[in-house]
Amino acid sequence: MKAWRLQEPGDPWTNLVLTELDSPTPGPGEVLVDVAGTDLNFADILQCQGSYQVRVPTPFTPGMSTSGTIVAVGPGVELDVGQRVVGWTVIGSGGFAQQALMGADGCTVLPDEVDCSTAVAMHITYGTSWFALHRRGGLQPGESVLVLAAAGGVGSSAVQMAKAHGCWVLAAAGGPDKAEACLEIGADVAIDYNNEDLYDRVMEATSGRGVDVVYDPVGGDYFDVARRLLAWEGRLLIVGFASGRIPEAPANHVLVKNYSLVGVHMGGYREVDPSPFQQCYDEIYQLLADDRIDPLIGEVVGLGDLPRALEDLASRRTIGRVILDPRA
Ligand SMILES: NC(=O)c1ccc[n+]([C@@H]2O[C@H](COP(=O)([O-])OP(=O)(O)OC[C@H]3O[C@@H](n4cnc5c(N)ncnc54)[C@H](OP(=O)(O)O)[C@@H]3O)[C@@H](O)[C@H]2O)c1
Repeated sequence: MKAWRLQEPGDPWTNLVLTELDSPTPGPGEVLVDVAGTDLNFADILQCQGSYQVRVPTPFTPGMSTSGTIVAVGPGVELDVGQRVVGWTVIGSGGFAQQALMGADGCTVLPDEVDCSTAVAMHITYGTSWFALHRRGGLQPGESVLVLAAAGGVGSSAVQMAKAHGCWVLAAAGGPDKAEACLEIGADVAIDYNNEDLYDRVMEATSGRGVDVVYDPVGGDYFDVARRLLAWEGRLLIVGFASGRIPEAPANHVLVKNYSLVGVHMGGYREVDPSPFQQCYDEIYQLLADDRIDPLIGEVVGLGDLPRALEDLASRRTIGRVILDPRA
């Protein structure tokens, strides 16, 4: 089978090599799948560059979540060959390949009507937004939510999850095309923060009150603006640092404005407390079945286009989720 291998840490668009490998054998608790869809995560890039919290020794095949059909099962696995699943890959044997290993515990068996691209486009994105908005953020219907990088992978899922919960959503993204995409997926207000002042536009839209919740996958300068935009008892959900700068907040500002800084680490629940995942994915698949969410897939690429697509993601050129389909 063909697999992209990272030979040494660095930018994946230069350091990945397409290699012919033997199919891996699933160990205890693992399954082997024929990959039908792998989503491109910003964190996959960080992992290749060696700056992600989980360091992986080279050479390895990245692609941290995937979907496909089970072709072999390891000892102690109750899933069957032929079932279609989505979930986390085993570190090192990821989804940027024709076949990948997955941990059976983290697999969700797909309903017949859900295709693999849709499933993998939802898996990390909507999962992250469920943990952020509901589990950690205590989001209430009727609240106002500002989503940063709202045309991106996790951002677009947050727009839809907040709308599905009856909230008023302000979506901020870089560029007119992205702002337009935010409106198309249901945002009430779209702000192009490359060309408009984020603070002024949000204050104008909220008549100076600010917002109840900020969903921030960007960090850096936008985090500094976002904490000034929080209303009384607001919550700033810290989801990521795509800008590359980890920001800081003065404690007196948090006190005086009476808001909460809330860390969100969806992947961490796998180690510490996996019990919420069942409820998380039950609710997300119900929203999908009810047509209340519709994952934004910007592009589906074949194996040969993967390095270019990863560079696009790192360079802010993608909209929604980009999916690798190695059969394409
Ligand atoms: N906490 C968790 O559990 C969790 C889970 C999943 C992902 N994340 C994090 O969430 C963030 C987004 O992940 P994603 O995979 O969904 O990516 P993404 O949002 O599809 O892409 C990143 C977006 O960040 C924005 N951005 C702002 N400044 C940037 C810069 N200097 N360089 C690159 N992008 C910049 C861009 O949107 P604009 O052009 O619109 O600004 C870009 O499209 C990442 O930091 C990721 O690690 C966290």
